[in-house]
Amino acid sequence: MIRFNNVTKHFVGVKHPALEDITIDIGDGEFVFLIGPSGAGKSTVLRLILRDLLPTSGTVIVNEWETGKIPSGKIHLLRRSIGMVFQDFKLLSDRTIGENIAVGVEILGKPRLEIEKRVNEVLDLVDLPDKANYFPLQLSAGELQRVSIARAIAAGPAILLADEPTGNLDPETGWGIMQILKEINAMGTTIVMATHNDSFVNQMKKRTITMKDGKIHRDEEKGRYHLVKHEHNAHEHVKHDGEKETTEKNVKDGKKEDQHGRD
Ligand SMILES: Nc1ncnc2c1ncn2[C@@H]1O[C@H](COP(=O)(O)OP(=O)(O)OP(=O)(O)O)[C@@H](O)[C@H]1O
Ligand SMILES: [Mg+2]
Repeated sequence: MIRFNNVTKHFVGVKHPALEDITIDIGDGEFVFLIGPSGAGKSTVLRLILRDLLPTSGTVIVNEWETGKIPSGKIHLLRRSIGMVFQDFKLLSDRTIGENIAVGVEILGKPRLEIEKRVNEVLDLVDLPDKANYFPLQLSAGELQRVSIARAIAAGPAILLADEPTGNLDPETGWGIMQILKEINAMGTTIVMATHNDSFVNQMKKRTITMKDGKIHRDEEKGRYHLVKHEHNAHEHVKHDGEKETTEKNVKDGKKEDQHGRD
């Protein structure tokens, strides 16, 4: 469970708040997209959930903990319940794939054999069963993102956060990552994913929270990507399209290989 109660976040020396009076409720097992223009506050929301940041006012509750009040001796328990995937993978280049994933499991203090077993399980899950002894430089970007997902879920977190996980990938490889996230969600993990990829949002039909200027602009079940750039109009604006239009747009996106830009 993730709950933001009237959360405002100011960064020191910045006049406008990054987030202003945000209230969000995300239940266990949900799949939620966070969308909105650059600077809207998507990454700030994810960092507050991870307790990488604390709110200036309001409360952030993750599972049974309020992040601002959790005793320092318990922070590791909160962190253990959250996995995080980034656009640029953040793998250690001098460790093998197996060692990179093991980092995520070692915090559980399990015996070596059990750790190895878990590393192999999650590598199977992301469809990279033979790569444990490779180094990151020997893998493609899509494979590296699958490794970083394997690392994030290795310790069995209740929540997986993903910040533009397909941003560095071509549309087809990105779609493969979406399928893996969908499977992980189907196994019960709550997923919150920040993205700029309109075609993935439109095709997945999951809850979509649209942010703008640090506020929640929309929050829709089976949402769609409303902030689109028309080919004949470079301005970003809100589009109230119907289901039919959305379907046509998906077809167009598929053909044009996601010209609307990065993840
Ligand atoms: N560490 C920081 N110090 C100062 N300002 C920050 C910091 N991190 C974020 N901001 C500001 O907070 C606002 C929200 O930033 P955030 O990174 O959450 O946006 P975003 O929606 O993730 O954007 P993008 O799509 O470009 O990743 C922006 O105005 C940004 O400049
Ligand atoms: Mg961001």
